[in-house]
Amino acid sequence: MGVFLPSSLAFPGVFLFLFITLCLIPELALAGITRHYKFDIVLKNVTRLCHNKSIVTVNGQFPGPRIVAREGDSLLIKVVNHVPNNISIHWHGIRQLQTGWADGPAYVTQCPIQTSQSYVYNFTIVGQRGTLFWHAHISWLRSTVYGPLIILPKRGILYPFPKPHKEVPIIFGEWWNVDTEAVITQAMQTGGGPNVSDAYTINGLPGLLYNCSAKDTFKLKVKPGKTYLLRLINAALNDELFFSIANHSLTVVETDAVYVKPFETNTIVITPGQTTNVLLNTKAKFPNATFFMAARPYVTGLGTFDNSTVAGILEYESDEFPHKTLSIRKLSLFKPVLPPLNDTSSATNFSNKLRSLASAQFPANVPQKVDKRFFFTVGLGTIPCQHNNQTCQGPNGTMFSASVNNISFALPSTALLQAHFFGQSKGVYSPDFPNSPIFPFNYTGTPPNNTKVSNGTKLVVLPFNTCVELVMQDTSILGAESHPLHLHGFNFFVVGQGFGNFDPNNDPAKFNLDDPVERNTVGIPSGGWVAIRFLADNPGVWFMHCHLEIHTSWGLRMAWVVLDGKLPNQKLLPPPADLPKC
Ligand code: C2O
Repeated sequence: MGVFLPSSLAFPGVFLFLFITLCLIPELALAGITRHYKFDIVLKNVTRLCHNKSIVTVNGQFPGPRIVAREGDSLLIKVVNHVPNNISIHWHGIRQLQTGWADGPAYVTQCPIQTSQSYVYNFTIVGQRGTLFWHAHISWLRSTVYGPLIILPKRGILYPFPKPHKEVPIIFGEWWNVDTEAVITQAMQTGGGPNVSDAYTINGLPGLLYNCSAKDTFKLKVKPGKTYLLRLINAALNDELFFSIANHSLTVVETDAVYVKPFETNTIVITPGQTTNVLLNTKAKFPNATFFMAARPYVTGLGTFDNSTVAGILEYESDEFPHKTLSIRKLSLFKPVLPPLNDTSSATNFSNKLRSLASAQFPANVPQKVDKRFFFTVGLGTIPCQHNNQTCQGPNGTMFSASVNNISFALPSTALLQAHFFGQSKGVYSPDFPNSPIFPFNYTGTPPNNTKVSNGTKLVVLPFNTCVELVMQDTSILGAESHPLHLHGFNFFVVGQGFGNFDPNNDPAKFNLDDPVERNTVGIPSGGWVAIRFLADNPGVWFMHCHLEIHTSWGLRMAWVVLDGKLPNQKLLPPPADLPKC
């Protein structure tokens, strides 16, 4: 038929066809592949510190399996729940453009996957490369259900730093001798602070500084004169960490799957929810020594905490006897000097050094013009004791709570995203989260006598492509404390931070709008504030919460609704058929 078409019609058609093909070819060459994973959620008996317990795992592995993909790839991850607990999995830091249904926080983007049910998480990795992680996003199950999510650059695209000899994920966690579900249930009932963990772990191993754990020590075997890329991930529940390797400096090259301007440091600060890629250059010659790599907490709050130290060992293979492991006992052993537990100046020094790479190839697209400003207070508070004629174990017989703008966020019994998508928000959430505190006070001064918070399921609704500036202010109520705030669905730029109360007249002039670090989790300085900017270009419902799990449990969480844009690729896709039901 085509040959009979009048040329005036056929030609534009042919031309258009050629044009589209030519435009698509480079795209096709770079288009990613689909990678399939299966996550069987199963119980597994695991022993650490001489305590055996049954834990929830993925495929019986602790920590869970590594997911490796390239930028541009799609992931199809089938999660099958074989345990009595409800489960949901979050792909922490993945932007989930248009695919909010695959984000994972229970009762936010999905109902949990119930026993013997399954759900396929289906999403594409767009414009991100580096280290992220995945974890359970329901109750405290992420204490054992977590693993690395590694995004390699597209084929043929180089790292903006020397190619490492080897890449090693180092995932920090916390080990509890008791069942963490019992710990959080008890804390929520009594209103008191939760019991703390018994050990920190590196790749699931507590290390030789703990009882009974010499054999459970992570060892990094290295060759002299090489560069190693360590992919650091903090999957701990409730603790920010300092990390250091004795007699070795580290070069930070990426945080939260975004390249940064490289800088050298002896100590890393990493909050729960953050990831940091560092280069480790090994010594030119076999050093006749082994070196501890150790992490312990950075703590600002007033509650009790696990003050122990996890240690792994950096072990050199000798040049002369490459395959013979020299007995460690014959070598000198060096230990790193970690900052004091409450060393806020070390933490601040570190975070002040972080800058986006902001190169031509990896630009920092910092929003320069703001459409909407928000000011949120973040911190602890109380609610009255819920047990008649009894005292609770929180402050003065009350129950601990935590809030954003004095609202402790109540999760609904159905998923917020479904309520939004089907226009059934009535009775599930209200769109009236306050832009700023209803009763302003001296946030970091003498705390007010009234520490009571309110309760609700209020969301902020944003039109598509709103450019948001959000200042998050720590409060001194029940003690100033650093809060690692995590935003789902977006990266944001950390344009400013400081101590004391944010000053809207003078602080914005000092914002860095050129090369601020871009991330998904930021530590609000203890007794201070942080200012972030992001473009709301991803339709859906996006959770924001403190990544200290106890603070999330107490209600330090809220959510944003981002409405659809006009174009087809600016709309939230419909839910998959197997989306779990509540
Ligand atoms: Cu890694 Cu909502 O969390």
